[in-house]
Amino acid sequence: MSNSIEIEKRRTFGIISHPDAGKTTLTEKLLLFGGAIQSAGAVKNNKIKKTATSDFMEIEKQRGISVATSVMAFHYNGKQINILDTPGHKDFAEDTFRTLTAVDSVILVIDVASGVEAQTKRLMEVCRMRKTPVIIFVNKMDRDGKESFDLLDELESVLKIKVCPLSWPIGMGDRFKGVYNIYKKELNLFSPNKTGISDDLQSLSDLNSNELDEMIGKDEADELREEIEMIEGVYDPFKREDYLAGEVAPVFFGSAVNNFGVQELLNAFCEISPSPIGRDADTKRVEPTDPKFSGFVFKIHANLDPKHRDRIAFLRIVSGKFQRNTFYNHVRNEKKMKFPNPTSFMAQDKSVIEEAYPGDVVGLYDSNNFKIGDTLTEGEKFNFKGIPSFSPEIFMELENLDPMKSKQLDKGIRQLMDEGVAQLFILQPGNRKIIGTVGQLQFEVISYRLDHEYGAKCRFVPKNYHKACWITTTDDAKLEEFKRAKTRYIAKDKDDNLVFLAETTFLLQMAEQDYPELTFHKTSAFKLEEEIN
Ligand code: G4P
Repeated sequence: MSNSIEIEKRRTFGIISHPDAGKTTLTEKLLLFGGAIQSAGAVKNNKIKKTATSDFMEIEKQRGISVATSVMAFHYNGKQINILDTPGHKDFAEDTFRTLTAVDSVILVIDVASGVEAQTKRLMEVCRMRKTPVIIFVNKMDRDGKESFDLLDELESVLKIKVCPLSWPIGMGDRFKGVYNIYKKELNLFSPNKTGISDDLQSLSDLNSNELDEMIGKDEADELREEIEMIEGVYDPFKREDYLAGEVAPVFFGSAVNNFGVQELLNAFCEISPSPIGRDADTKRVEPTDPKFSGFVFKIHANLDPKHRDRIAFLRIVSGKFQRNTFYNHVRNEKKMKFPNPTSFMAQDKSVIEEAYPGDVVGLYDSNNFKIGDTLTEGEKFNFKGIPSFSPEIFMELENLDPMKSKQLDKGIRQLMDEGVAQLFILQPGNRKIIGTVGQLQFEVISYRLDHEYGAKCRFVPKNYHKACWITTTDDAKLEEFKRAKTRYIAKDKDDNLVFLAETTFLLQMAEQDYPELTFHKTSAFKLEEEIN
């Protein structure tokens, strides 16, 4: 039997935001709707609080908690919805980038007062790169914030995506009355102390009717009429295909903490968001309807208990049907593997599953067989593309403090890199290990874990590299010349790709100018980059 019914039911997405915009609150409200949790507060702990920036014990605790909430699945309106959690903390941005390779769409939460913030911009760049369909939820409408038209302009100019408001707020802050759903022609009235979780929806096909004046007051009604007229003049009507192509982002307004506009968002999401989409592999495009199973690992989570070195590898299923206790082909290792306890995640409950379908994420217990980006198939030999490494921002040289433990250190560092905790670059002369991360936090995680899990002690010596750039060329002679000229700055990444560690923007520009035959890539996903440019 074909899997198409199961595929069509699934919606796999991620919620992204700058910290504090309301991602956790929105996630929680969505789970309440789906009946996956019974009370508010259940997801809260998932968040690494800002105060924990240098408290690695706290990180360890958080790591444990976030396994359970890495994937949150629930049923709503006949759909199976899989929310993939993305860490909000900027030091874990790399984790978020990788998770974005496993989703089919994204909900981006914006705080109405703060508008587009740094983290939002970076995350959106990744979505744009991958042409991921994005819905924007403007949150905290119960607070005063930016004027809605200004905010839409900001979204378009800073995030570089066309927007299309599908709902429109009536006032904000103390004067917030609710939103008018342009798409459904419904009025959703706001009451701050509402007890139920469902929106208070009133259908209103004619904005000119007196009913509107009665419901929200004459001045507000007139203002709304005027604004909707402006919207119709300025923005093109919503076309689902533009949203699915990642070209237009529909916008909703609400207040997650007040449970307002969340149901509206969820209903629209179920209606317009894509069911699982295919992925490119090195030799072909794999579609969800392809009969043979395939999937890729986008996240690896270490076990908290150092005595049990096993880990959980998170596998996104791309095609076919995954079944428990069935042999699959680990393509990189050329090895057959079967999984007696594949786990699914329904909010906070983990359970062993018998089968899973495209769009689903299963947790596989792993004893160091997997690396991020690995492909599993039903026998075919291909690898999924596009789990990129981005240039780190902080670089440190790893120094072994206990020469008797260099084997443990080596093993530990390799395994942590397989999990994607940070990136390792081996400087060619002297085999020196340079660790690159996007945040300071990872160095604490690495030394803590090397010590506690592998019994190896290390120290980090800061290096003032500015960027790691992956080099490609067809001109071998020029490459050799470059390598000779820059010996001290040439390293290899974990897959033996050649990397130039540039100390300043200026030196990078000089290299680009002096060696036009070489290309310096800011991410390891060259193909992806080429497609975007
Ligand atoms: P994050 O995951 O994106 O980091 O944000 P989170 O949901 O934790 O929300 C950040 C803060 O914003 C929280 O307050 C949360 O209650 C508040 N918040 C979320 N949605 C809304 C909204 O619609 N309106 C208003 N006014 N506030 C909202 P906090 O004080 O940091 O935490 P807590 O003590 O409330 O848990």
